[in-house]
Amino acid sequence: MAEELLIATGNKEEKYQQLLPQIKALLEGEKNLIANLANIAAALKQQFDFLWVGFYLIEDNELVLGPFQGPIACTRIQKGKGVCGTCWEKNEPIIVPDVEAFPGHIACSSQSKSEIVLPLYQKNKIIGVLDVDSDLYNSFDATDAKFLRDIIALLD
Ligand code: SME
Repeated sequence: MAEELLIATGNKEEKYQQLLPQIKALLEGEKNLIANLANIAAALKQQFDFLWVGFYLIEDNELVLGPFQGPIACTRIQKGKGVCGTCWEKNEPIIVPDVEAFPGHIACSSQSKSEIVLPLYQKNKIIGVLDVDSDLYNSFDATDAKFLRDIIALLD
């Protein structure tokens, strides 16, 4: 495991490109899911300084807050509710350029302006979601969706 995360400069794609192999190295040899989710959240926060980055995990047919970095957050989200519950129900990534324009958005922090949520899989089965929030509008696009998917696919 690497001892220190090298923070990349450059455009978003270059940052993700340099982050991906470092996260791969970080996960190598560690099987514990919570430990790995915690380090992924920390690495994304360190590299991009997102407002909030973390995981919700499916437990008893609801999403329960998992490892995250950022301000305190709501602990449970029902299937189909908010961006996270909708991502889970539809089993597809959701990019929200303006959270106020997303019907049913759950505002854990009034600072959050845009958001991306992706399904998290283990052995091809959805086990939760990755949620990333920004304090700026329009922060996320197809580049984030691609690289975040590649990062969490390291857990599959
Ligand atoms: N905004 C999310 C809730 C989780 S927090 O942003 C950390 C949603 O609408 O599902």
